[in-house]
Amino acid sequence: MPAIENLGATTRTSPLWSPDKVTVIFVLGGPGAGKGTQCSKLVSDYGFKHLSAGDLLREEQDRPGSEFGEMIKTYIKEGTIVPMEVTIQLLENAMKKAMEEEKKSTFLIDGFPRKLDQAHAFERSVVPSKFTLFFDAPEDVMLERLLDRGKTSGRADDNIESIKKRFRTFVETSMPVVDEFESQKRVIKVNATQTPDEVYRDVQARLKEWGIEPITLKFVQTDA
Ligand code: C5P
Ligand code: MG
Repeated sequence: MPAIENLGATTRTSPLWSPDKVTVIFVLGGPGAGKGTQCSKLVSDYGFKHLSAGDLLREEQDRPGSEFGEMIKTYIKEGTIVPMEVTIQLLENAMKKAMEEEKKSTFLIDGFPRKLDQAHAFERSVVPSKFTLFFDAPEDVMLERLLDRGKTSGRADDNIESIKKRFRTFVETSMPVVDEFESQKRVIKVNATQTPDEVYRDVQARLKEWGIEPITLKFVQTDA
């Protein structure tokens, strides 16, 4: 089945799902801030469904016969933002699939929204988000991580030229999204320069403040 059949998602004028039924947490941060690393930890402890916009775009890019493959490839190489109709349709399709096949209703949407138009269109036509988890780190820290990841990631954009462009896109295009959500008091900002475990400890503490608790009890104490 093709990942995208049509690009109708963003033409709706009201949300497909109610935030009472479907919980969406956006995960933002510059390239190399550790979004993916933190999301995998959260998935195992909280049972969220993790959807990475970048991963979905790379998957669509590589899907034989995709009419969007070449376009996506160019945008990713240049570190610019793929037109929102494509990304939002991919996300909506992936959410539907996870609801049907895995009975999931709480989503971590990683690397999205990277531009204000995506933020507005998604909340208007798919579902309003609960809040945004923002991983904050300076460029020198992110650069070191990306170059290290580039040794094994096989990603076409983990090289110095693409990284510089991605940093620029992040500052100019994506930070306004964080700023807008921040003005609505819908951002949890975490210091992402720490080790993954330290970052995760902070994330867990902040989620707790929003009433979100882990689902797995790793250690069960008995009265032996
Ligand atoms: O999040 P990740 O680093 O995997 O994203 C890789 C690239 O995918 C971005 O640099 C951008 O070109 C594209 N992308 C996008 N819109 C998004 C997420 C990713 O255009 N919301
Ligand atoms: Mg990622």
